[in-house]
Amino acid sequence: MTNPLYNKNIISIADLSRTELELIVSTAQSIKQDPRPQLLAGKVIASCFFEASTRTRLSFETAVQRLGGTVIGFDSGGNTSLAQKGETLADSVQVISSYSDAFFMRHPQEGAARLASEYSSVPVINGGDGANQHPTQTLLDLFSIYETQGTLEGLKVAFVGDLKYGRTVHSLAQALSLFGCQFYFVAPEALRMPDYLCEELSEAGIQFTHVENLDQVLPELDVLYMTRVQKERFDPTEYQHMKSKYVLTAAMLEGVKENLKILHPLPRVDEITTDVDHTPYAYYFQQAENGVYARQSLLALVLKEEL
Ligand code: CP
Repeated sequence: MTNPLYNKNIISIADLSRTELELIVSTAQSIKQDPRPQLLAGKVIASCFFEASTRTRLSFETAVQRLGGTVIGFDSGGNTSLAQKGETLADSVQVISSYSDAFFMRHPQEGAARLASEYSSVPVINGGDGANQHPTQTLLDLFSIYETQGTLEGLKVAFVGDLKYGRTVHSLAQALSLFGCQFYFVAPEALRMPDYLCEELSEAGIQFTHVENLDQVLPELDVLYMTRVQKERFDPTEYQHMKSKYVLTAAMLEGVKENLKILHPLPRVDEITTDVDHTPYAYYFQQAENGVYARQSLLALVLKEEL
């Protein structure tokens, strides 16, 4: 079978079909069980972070190196020599892509990865663009859900916290909508899931409910996806008011389903107390580790026509 992801830009989760998502998840599972240390031998991957990152950058760079490839790039937020000298993103991308076989980037502006893909001579992978999309986070989320639930189909999933600015929840809800999951959106009015996304879900016939009280839905859930309030995208006074609105504690988990898994893209601030870490439901650190396998899978599929 031809690999449908070969040479493809990965900008938005909405660009990926259900079959492609399943292929990425199954390849991640296979690489986790059977590492391929020479798969990317000879490949040079640019890792360009115009906005800060810990997990995405380090897991991505680990992924490249464990597959035998080489990483070039920077992680200096907006403080790159490119920005200091006033170079446009379009020019930077044309230059950097000429040095590399794939271009992985994070940028604070929505649409930056799409723009980059128009100027890049190699596939662009979006590591987060503003409050818009974070498709590789979604891939590791899907892999973690599949790993713990044995399926992506028909699950009951609650998204909690900052659903307005949290790009990870936007991408994950879009992806899970291809698998007939049912959603609860648990957020204060000011941080509700954006209308455009709710409209998309309605048009796709997905069942979702807006809820203010997490306790109300906890016993029904297969997956609880917690998020932090995005301080960097928020008015400071409003941030103080919102940040402790939803705090998950171990005591709240009494009576939940046995298969419940709690995910969080991390970093956490105070929305999950540390006593939850010791329950069988916590999966956020394994989820972060899965970032390596999911990104290895994506790189392998984008860069190798046949695996
Ligand atoms: N989950 C995530 O995107 O984390 P970083 O911001 O550390 O990359």
